Amino acid sequence: MIISASTDYREAARRRLPPFLFHYIDGGAYAERTLARNVSDLGDVALRQRVLKDVSSLSLETELLGEKLSMPIVLAPVGLTGMYARRGEVQAARAAQKAGINLTLSTVSVCPIEEVQGRCDKPIWFQLYVLKDRGFMKNALERAWAAGIRTLVFTVDMPVPGARYRDAHSGMSGPNAEIRRLWQAVTHPHWAFDVGLMGTPHDLGNVSKYLGKATGLADYIGWLGANFDPSISWKDLEWIRDFWKGPMVIKGILDPEDAKDAVSFGADGIVVSNHGGRQLDGVLSSARALPAIADAVKGDLTILADSGIRTGLDVVRMIALGADGVLLGRAFIYALAAGGEAGVSNLLSLFEKEMRVAMALTGVKSIREIGPQCLVPGGMTV
Ligand code: FNR
Repeated sequence: MIISASTDYREAARRRLPPFLFHYIDGGAYAERTLARNVSDLGDVALRQRVLKDVSSLSLETELLGEKLSMPIVLAPVGLTGMYARRGEVQAARAAQKAGINLTLSTVSVCPIEEVQGRCDKPIWFQLYVLKDRGFMKNALERAWAAGIRTLVFTVDMPVPGARYRDAHSGMSGPNAEIRRLWQAVTHPHWAFDVGLMGTPHDLGNVSKYLGKATGLADYIGWLGANFDPSISWKDLEWIRDFWKGPMVIKGILDPEDAKDAVSFGADGIVVSNHGGRQLDGVLSSARALPAIADAVKGDLTILADSGIRTGLDVVRMIALGADGVLLGRAFIYALAAGGEAGVSNLLSLFEKEMRVAMALTGVKSIREIGPQCLVPGGMTV
């Protein structure tokens, strides 16, 4: 059995959320092999213990894309976050900023850009999908810029949806989904009361604002389904590069050739990611894809990585494998679903402590010092 704050929060989230939401968060594509390997490959990376290195003063501070952070972590964009806890995007953003880090707001958030940014002290990051409806994209970018947001995360690994069979089992999708979800809301009244779902459709902030009408979950699933754009290529991104004057990060890179293309395109950063195993099952875990990508482009742009990070030790592992920083996905979502803002704050403080121990016992005093020398040579596993 694996013990961590993330697994404890996961269990608490399972009890609190209706099944359709818990499995939407927890699940992955097809047989979920990549999802499982994200966690096991990363956790298996053997750290190299070093001693007597005077690690009495350690610093986790770092700078990512021109922003000073207390540790090299940013919360990943996660759709529907406001359905896991009341105004969840605001709660998560506040916990992140109180901890000295930041949140990336998903395109498909419940709370609109303006609400989340209005409750924060510094600019959050914003994530955008490639969608057929370029009008929506332009509108979202204009609103994000006007709200003061400067860092854009552009997610490119969703030209087509990966099938998530768990969603069909749980009532998130498929026949009679609406009735099944309503039934689950009724049988989870504490949750339905918290997020304000009793009897009312949930409004999906950014999409509703654009469409000019309230949107429920069914509208959202329909809208997103109609908006995947398989025709997208690098040249389609040029108008965004011209339009967006702040740092632009390409999320969903898993191959060194694509990482090099991101450099040629002029991206400021990439996120090495397989979308948490939610798109193509059978692709490499991020931990296994990362070293070759770092070999190809380290130093040319900022390398972020996600997928499978469940502890502070995993953060140190990702950085040792070649990342400059990481995004946390499910780890923070489980904590938010279980304990709201306080849950996320607690999770982040545990991550910080875990990172400190991992750095002390691998003999490094700063984030910059973390490198391949912190790992057992030859890719040995625990
Ligand atoms: C996601 N992810 C995601 N990514 C994105 O760019 N936009 C989005 O709206 C979402 N939505 C979303 C919902 C849920 C429920 C999950 C779990 C994930 C992917 C996310 O940003 C990140 O890449 C993964 O979560 C990382 O994997 P781990 O850490 O969750 O294993």
